[in-house]
Amino acid sequence: MTAKSRNERRGPLWHKDAVIYHLHVRSFSDANGDGIGDFAGLTQKLDYIESLGVNTIWLLPFYPSPGRDGGYDVTDYTNVSPEYGSVRDFEVFVTAAHQRNIRIIVELVINHTSDEHPWFQSARRARADSKERDYYVWSDTDEKFAGTRIIFIDSETSNWSWDPVAGAYYWHRFYAHQPDLNFRNPIVVEELLKIMRFWLDKGVDGFRLDAVPHLIEREKTKSENLPETHALLKHLRRTLEETHPEVILLAEANLWPKEAREYFGEGDECHMAFHFPLMPRIFSAVAKASSKPIKTIMRQTLPIPDDCQWAIFLRNHDELTLEMVSEAERNFLWEKYAADKRARLNLGIRRRLSPLMDQDRRRIELLHMLLLSLPGSPVLYYGDEIGMGDNIELGDRDGVRTPMQWADEKNAGFSNAPPSALALPVIANAQFGYAAINVKDQEDDAHSLLNWVRQVLALRASHTAFARGQMRFVKTDNDSVIAFVRADGDDRILCVANLSNTAQATQIGLSKFNGFTPVELTGGAAFPIIEHKAYAMTFQPYAYFWLKLDKNRSAGDLDAE
Ligand code: BGC
Repeated sequence: MTAKSRNERRGPLWHKDAVIYHLHVRSFSDANGDGIGDFAGLTQKLDYIESLGVNTIWLLPFYPSPGRDGGYDVTDYTNVSPEYGSVRDFEVFVTAAHQRNIRIIVELVINHTSDEHPWFQSARRARADSKERDYYVWSDTDEKFAGTRIIFIDSETSNWSWDPVAGAYYWHRFYAHQPDLNFRNPIVVEELLKIMRFWLDKGVDGFRLDAVPHLIEREKTKSENLPETHALLKHLRRTLEETHPEVILLAEANLWPKEAREYFGEGDECHMAFHFPLMPRIFSAVAKASSKPIKTIMRQTLPIPDDCQWAIFLRNHDELTLEMVSEAERNFLWEKYAADKRARLNLGIRRRLSPLMDQDRRRIELLHMLLLSLPGSPVLYYGDEIGMGDNIELGDRDGVRTPMQWADEKNAGFSNAPPSALALPVIANAQFGYAAINVKDQEDDAHSLLNWVRQVLALRASHTAFARGQMRFVKTDNDSVIAFVRADGDDRILCVANLSNTAQATQIGLSKFNGFTPVELTGGAAFPIIEHKAYAMTFQPYAYFWLKLDKNRSAGDLDAE
């Protein structure tokens, strides 16, 4: 298929309408019975993914890797790790996904490689002034770039490590086994473009660019978000678009909105970027029963170029990062959500959504409603749609990457292998284990979380206001109630929610919509017509509404008694 016809099939700017399901091949479904998820298993589960109502899959790294950082330590960028299958299996998966109109975003671990990558192995052995050595960032001292912070503060004490073979220090922003590539070297940039074209030719629709702010370092700076990094990203986009105009670049830049916004450039850099600071503020808002955290960060979020889109999320494969909050706020969130210190990792919390919400269905729904209502393409983390738990006993972030719980069967229906052979153990405790929480049971239950997620995703998809619309906060006289309107032409949705655990009443400033009737989206019930400046609403704890503001519908007169 030509790039042009593929683009036509998918429509322009599809990323603006994306609803992304984020998963790890390793933990999703094991078809060959070796205990490790694989592409064949994932392909078999595409009907399930499609049934959720998502239209994009983002895959964690699946490349050959020693696996010391969940695959973010790559040894071969143009291959599939044999435990997950072959490049052919990958292509079969992509074709099957495209047949369902599901796009594929793959992880591109662009900042660093594994220290076992042949590039690093040649670099350390090569002469100091050689082409090979120049693939990475070296120094005779560990004092260069001293203004650069350490990211994995629980495991690393320096961004430099001594390599006895090279007789020099090498630079790494993450684990010491992940040397940073040298993007000041044009040969490295060319290598990267080759890798990207390789996967585009296999049909992928986009890349999540891992850890982009750190690509290039410079003395006397923080070595983050440098102009040369932005120039590099623009170069990548421009060059790729010559052959693959449909490619989507999604920036992983854990930054304040103003700096994250820069990754869109003038619409000529990344098409999407994660909105990191919004995420912890959603958790703050519900913990404090206050709309302020969300309102404040959204007000600090500047408009983005028309063709761009934020990616927003509640949880992902990493710790719930608290880097983008103040120290006081971080301590508050740690106390609130990670009282058990084992749940804390680096500057974050390694827990899944349902345990964070104490398995409270009302709060889980509320958070999903916010995720699906706020501006941006929502990213759902596999397993959260059924309320899966985590395993705090596992190391690093493995506790939130356990096998998908398909059924109350051996190994949660994930694999036929002996349990001891599984990539990670399935969760088996009484509260969150696969006997209590699994896809099969929830499919059979009309009121399950899974079926609720399907319903709200379907509703969201039928209103362009959510994906494409403007957003305006609406005044309320009760800080526990958040209210905003998403509007795309005549499609206007009032999103309103009670963030507190007690019943609340509020007056909402809707004078602009005088004469409109709010119609509740899930059931179609008409609410009283908006007649006064202040519109009164009442809520049960954690209750929410999506209300279409309908100009032409009347709620009807009251009968005389
Ligand atoms: C990924 C992490 C990974 C790190 C280093 C992050 O952005 O999300 O899972 O450990 O990059 O590659």
